[in-house]
Amino acid sequence: MPVVDKSSICVVEVDSMNRIHYEEADMLNELDELMQAHEAGNTSDDALDAKLDEFLQHMTAHFRGEEVQMQAINFPPYPIHKSEHDAQIALANEKIDAWKQSRELEPLAAYLRIELPQWLDQHIATMDKVTARFFAMNGKEVSLDL
Ligand SMILES: [Fe+2]
Ligand SMILES: [Fe+2]
Repeated sequence: MPVVDKSSICVVEVDSMNRIHYEEADMLNELDELMQAHEAGNTSDDALDAKLDEFLQHMTAHFRGEEVQMQAINFPPYPIHKSEHDAQIALANEKIDAWKQSRELEPLAAYLRIELPQWLDQHIATMDKVTARFFAMNGKEVSLDL
């Protein structure tokens, strides 16, 4: 069973945001499978590291894409929304760096399978949902290519 059930992710009013959220859920499910393979001794640290870097790049671009459009429309709650993003990027970096140093998979797996999916669920259902309403009113889409 995938760790992230895409049908449970809150749908927001901007399609490009929904697409990015589904891509991130797909990547978390792929990471789960890769961690299972690693736990079974069937994949290397390097393969997992490469996927982790790809995931971090996606999450960074996802957050930046939203932040750029919030600034473009002078969205007043921007600092609150951005501070949630910044805290999560810092935590993801911390967990991935700790894994690369210690090669202990358990704390990373707990983060990627439980903590981060829970945070994403609530972030999307609150911050992103409200933000998307304002983007939709202003005809804004979110892009990963900035
Ligand atoms: Fe988002
Ligand atoms: Fe967000």
